Amino acid sequence: MTGIIEDDSVKGLSVDIPPELRNDDFSRYLIDRMHQLEERNHILREQNHKIESEKRYAESQKIKFERDLRTLTNELERLKTSPLIVGTIVEVLENGKLIVRSSTGPQFVVGMSKFIKGSDLEPGAQVAMNQQTLAIVGVLPTSISALLKGVEVIESPDVDYVHIGGLDDQIRELREAVELPLTKPEAFTRIGIDPPNGVLLYGPPGTGKTMLAKAVANHTNTTFLRIVGSELVQKYIGEGARMVRELFKLAQDKTPSIIFIDELDSIGAKRYDGATAGDREVQRTLMQLLAEMDGFNSRGEVRLLAATNRLDILDNALLRPGRFDRFIEVPIPNQEARANILGIHTRNMALSKTIDFNYLAKITEGANGSELKAIATEAGMFAIRKDKDQVEVEDMECAISKVLFTKNSSNTVSEGMFV
Ligand SMILES: Nc1ncnc2c1ncn2[C@@H]1O[C@H](COP(=O)(O)OP(=O)(O)OP(=O)(O)O)[C@@H](O)[C@H]1O
Ligand SMILES: [Mg+2]
Repeated sequence: MTGIIEDDSVKGLSVDIPPELRNDDFSRYLIDRMHQLEERNHILREQNHKIESEKRYAESQKIKFERDLRTLTNELERLKTSPLIVGTIVEVLENGKLIVRSSTGPQFVVGMSKFIKGSDLEPGAQVAMNQQTLAIVGVLPTSISALLKGVEVIESPDVDYVHIGGLDDQIRELREAVELPLTKPEAFTRIGIDPPNGVLLYGPPGTGKTMLAKAVANHTNTTFLRIVGSELVQKYIGEGARMVRELFKLAQDKTPSIIFIDELDSIGAKRYDGATAGDREVQRTLMQLLAEMDGFNSRGEVRLLAATNRLDILDNALLRPGRFDRFIEVPIPNQEARANILGIHTRNMALSKTIDFNYLAKITEGANGSELKAIATEAGMFAIRKDKDQVEVEDMECAISKVLFTKNSSNTVSEGMFV
């Protein structure tokens, strides 16, 4: 029996068995002891379990922290690297070298990293260069030049001809002058004439000029580059002219395209002697525009469209044949057109059946398109205020007197302000 105690399995148990227990009692004692040991074993196993799961957790934490460390080290590296210089490729030479104009002005002959695909390196592409060696380390995406921030590139605007009321003649003329050369250039070749070079929309504010331009773009499925003339007036000398150049280049890259210069009068005003430095800069921008208009091929897929409120102050050079040679007047709507426009802007509104657009058109003499739109919205507001389900004639009348009265009174205020 003592042999059992000295057995390996219970080694370490230094039990001193008293002689009187070496019989039945002794076996009971052993069973007890075994129970105790089993319990202890159980506890130890549980602890082991716990520690192992803690170890697993610690390991996963370690992996996580290592990952964090890596990202932070990368970030630190990124922050510590010196900035790259932006340049534009001027020419690709045969020996693998390139001529690059850096953004500060001077030109350099530089090498490039071998990881760059040769096909990306075209003259005009923007590249990033190392500061010390000026070697090209990357090609920048040239979706739109940084210079042309003010240009709105609308792939296809959501205005349609049916949303424009009372301008059917203008729409027809515009389509002939802008759409036809894009969709049927062969018709012009057949007859042997050049389509109009540039089309100028002119007329009082709020009559739908900008809308017309957008509708054309929508119909022709072209890239529509819209820039407001005042965006071309820049702080530094020569920058406006450069923007004009880039604008035409961008249009050329994205053919078929329509360039739309809104509010042309801001750069196209008559040139005169004795101008200030600022005026001279605006005139330089205008001259660049004239040069670009001469340069681009009228049968090409770039059409030029502009809009202005003030035809009378535009420079004569802009208005001669060969530049803007098609003028489309967008007048204040007449009675029929007003009825049409009201119909367009109320097409989604809940209207009472008694509303007669002809009557409304009669009492809105002198209102332009944007005022008619405001009237429609205002009538809706009146109906909402009175908690009605639909807009009635009286709401329309209230809206008309509100919108047109505000217009008239603001006119008198502004006239009075400058006496
Ligand atoms: N003929 C029209 N048919 C329908 N809506 C019109 C019409 N004319 C103007 N509108 C409404 O007036 C708003 C302003 O029109 P738009 O921006 O085309 O005017 P604009 O002639 O370009 O004015 P501005 O000379 O001040 O730039 C349009 O968003 C449209 O809701
Ligand atoms: Mg406009």
